[in-house]
Amino acid sequence: MFDKNIYVSRRNTLLGLMKQTAPEGQRGLAIFLGNNDAPQNYRGNDYKFRQESSFLYYWGVDEPGFAAVLDLDSGEECLYGNDVDIDDIIWMGPQPSVASKAARIGSARSASFAAFATDIIKAKEKGRRIHFLPTSRYYNTMVISGLVGSTPENVRKASSQDISGSEYASLELTKAVISMRLIKEKCEIEEIDKACEIGYLMHTAARKACKPGVREQDIVGIMEGVTISKGWGVSFATILSQNGETLHNHMHHQIITPGRLLVIDAGAESNTHYASDFTRTLPCGGKFTSRQCEIYDIVASCNELAYNLAKPGTSYRDVHISVAAHMLESLKGLGLVKGSVNDMVNEGIAGLFMPHGLGHNMGIDVHDMEDLGENLVGYDDDQTRSRQLGLGSLRMARMLRPGHVITDEPGIYFIPALIEKWKKEGTGKGFVNFSRLEEYYDFGGIRLEDDLLITEDGCRRLGSRRLPILSSDVEAAMAGE
Ligand code: GLY
Repeated sequence: MFDKNIYVSRRNTLLGLMKQTAPEGQRGLAIFLGNNDAPQNYRGNDYKFRQESSFLYYWGVDEPGFAAVLDLDSGEECLYGNDVDIDDIIWMGPQPSVASKAARIGSARSASFAAFATDIIKAKEKGRRIHFLPTSRYYNTMVISGLVGSTPENVRKASSQDISGSEYASLELTKAVISMRLIKEKCEIEEIDKACEIGYLMHTAARKACKPGVREQDIVGIMEGVTISKGWGVSFATILSQNGETLHNHMHHQIITPGRLLVIDAGAESNTHYASDFTRTLPCGGKFTSRQCEIYDIVASCNELAYNLAKPGTSYRDVHISVAAHMLESLKGLGLVKGSVNDMVNEGIAGLFMPHGLGHNMGIDVHDMEDLGENLVGYDDDQTRSRQLGLGSLRMARMLRPGHVITDEPGIYFIPALIEKWKKEGTGKGFVNFSRLEEYYDFGGIRLEDDLLITEDGCRRLGSRRLPILSSDVEAAMAGE
């Protein structure tokens, strides 16, 4: 948890932003519902608790069963939660009072959780607007839809078409929160650096454990152990597979086999829930084959190019497109594609090899704020999302600004089903050398990912140590382990 002044200042900034959306007396309430415990299989056996990220950002309380209200007209605020009773004390031990938790985040007023609903109903009766953020957890969706009298479907999306009181999540509040959370404060960057150090340690442990005969699942266990011993845990389910052509492969049943490539895409949360997200691709026997090395070096140069291009005043959409052009130029050198690189970029040929975007925002969430709406978070008002494979999956396209934290994660994959589909449908005809590509059907995939902070004049890689990335450095590291 940060110093209380951080939370006070964030709420004041939010209040200021929301003041611009309506005259005094017509603004209403901004409500924040924290997460609750979620049973895995029966009540009392819950999933590990993870707080709702915007609640954490403005209210800091990292426990289930809390909510908060910010009155956008008067500036008053209240933290809602229940003090523990003797049963809770028997099972969980003594806990600080809700009032003391409110004081810890600089909030003057606290009340029971039941008062949250009462206060909202009273405000609605007075015709006041209720602003809330789009929900992702089903429990929160049901609670909010019940409170505001809307459908679960509508409370999950942000809209300014607030025709019946507060039917939809508030576009104004959502945009204000996004504008704040997109630009990371110094204390947040320090936490992301910590998460990156844990990410460094988990990937280093994985590389050391990557030996012929070992099960992929054993490596996952070793990596995830590191995250729990050093921080809160993983920032997303670990992706680790020798079938790296499947972008999010969570099957870990195979045995490490020399000659194959192991894609490891994994990250950690610091104890305060800031994320890291790194990807490395390892040669399973410790040495890349020459064919693997050719493709690997292209991906590594794409990663480096994005790092060199990412700076304020450049959009990440343009960086993605420059990387796509460089990738196609390099693949042309290998005879896998042919023709004008410009034409290939315009036709979206890069999507055959990299069907995902170059990167995403990262912060308290590994895909930061994706619950608030991918396009609202990742696109400026004057940008529209492409429909092309690859570019259409770009989650962060915005004009870069100091304080943005983004991932730089190019990849090249040979996905037989996708290549066959393009061939059959004539997509990429004249550009793609389909017969050469058949030789790559057993190749798998390669992805390489670092986390970047946009600075005043460029960017820096987050974390104090960088995982080996050049093919020669990876081989050298594996030879010594
Ligand atoms: N690193 C996993 C993802 O970006 O989806």
